[in-house]
Amino acid sequence: MKKILTMLIMCMALTPKIDAQTYTPTAGNLAARNTFQDLKFGLFIHWGIYSELGRGEWVMNNDHISYKNYKRLADFFNPQSFSARDWVRFAKSAGMKYITVTSRHHDGFSMFGTKESPYNIVDATPYHKDPLMELAKECAKEGIQLHFYYSLLDWGRPDYAYGSRIVDGKPVNGNWESYISFMKKQLTELITKYPGVKGIWFDGHWERKTADWHYDEIYGLIHQLNPSILVGNNHHLEPKAGEDFQMFEKDLPGNNLTGFSGEAKIGELPLETCETINKSWGFDLSDNNYKSSAQLIHYLVGAAGRNANFLLNIGPMPDGKIQSEFTDTMAIVGKWMKQNGESIYGTRGNIVPPQPWGVITHKNKTFYAHIMVWPQENYIFIPKFKGKISKAELMGTKTAVRYKQQEEGAFVYLDGIKSLPYDTIIQLQ
Ligand code: GLC
Repeated sequence: MKKILTMLIMCMALTPKIDAQTYTPTAGNLAARNTFQDLKFGLFIHWGIYSELGRGEWVMNNDHISYKNYKRLADFFNPQSFSARDWVRFAKSAGMKYITVTSRHHDGFSMFGTKESPYNIVDATPYHKDPLMELAKECAKEGIQLHFYYSLLDWGRPDYAYGSRIVDGKPVNGNWESYISFMKKQLTELITKYPGVKGIWFDGHWERKTADWHYDEIYGLIHQLNPSILVGNNHHLEPKAGEDFQMFEKDLPGNNLTGFSGEAKIGELPLETCETINKSWGFDLSDNNYKSSAQLIHYLVGAAGRNANFLLNIGPMPDGKIQSEFTDTMAIVGKWMKQNGESIYGTRGNIVPPQPWGVITHKNKTFYAHIMVWPQENYIFIPKFKGKISKAELMGTKTAVRYKQQEEGAFVYLDGIKSLPYDTIIQLQ
């Protein structure tokens, strides 16, 4: 008996502790997750006083600009050409269904009117207006979902005490309670003042891996204010309790090309992958590394095939305008989405693992085989394809496509089919 008891106690000690924060999403939240997955394509916007310097959003840190000197950028930030209407139009014509915009980045400057810090666009710049309010209203009007990017990391606030050693989950030199409470108050403003906010996108966790970020309180507060709001965190880790979607930075889920996703095990939540059009997030005057429309379409299709949304970034210029390289490329992507969006929006992926020729998306009773790399043979092979195919045709045409189904998978023959620019889509019923 004693032996059994000791064994039982040992077993109990070995079982992992259940996370103290347990989170049961509401029905509304689950529905929001589903809608979010249907949207598939979003616009990420990095815009702040850093845009003035045209060297990306990390310029304060990279160039060792002191907080005191950097603050001067606010004195002459006056984006006279900013137009929420133009931004939303741009997103819509590119085929995007939601916008995630930086409300406060690592430089600590709030791009919205906030009572919690005078260091904000309404009070500290000659502009004196709140572009995020205009954007929120425009998004609500135009049926575009709005998400706010919110930085956990702050290079300037003394209570955050950037660079401080972390002991017992807190910065030694800062005032962690004050900083956490500041964030909670700003998040409350963002959620309660701005119409139609659907998500909060956190970033900066990786700067303080051993800090106690009080996520239970922060996520709890967000879900208490609005249980349907989707919480995501760019911590590059496995999802934590209280999060509603999992994000990947500059990588398709399952890849780790940029080194950010090494510890990011793919969980059960909706997925989103974010990427830049050139290399930078914030406006960069000398970054000419533009991705082509073909690369971006392939990224989007590749994400959908891996069951992920694609959040594509632009860094508008300091005056609020979007540079022509972005508008030109996105016009092509938008045109493609207009013709082929049926194979992307509302679909789910991960039907089969990505193949050398491409990926498969799925909606209702239709499967879309996206051929992005034309095969050497005259066919593509879909391994372990389940379900009986009753018809195969080239999407958007009535051109029948020959196929053969057997135990190990389906063969779809491409003789007589010409490869289309970007993606040749075979629709399987
Ligand atoms: C990284 C960068 C940050 C950017 C973000 C977008 O975390 O540090 O500047 O906003 O990626 O994914």
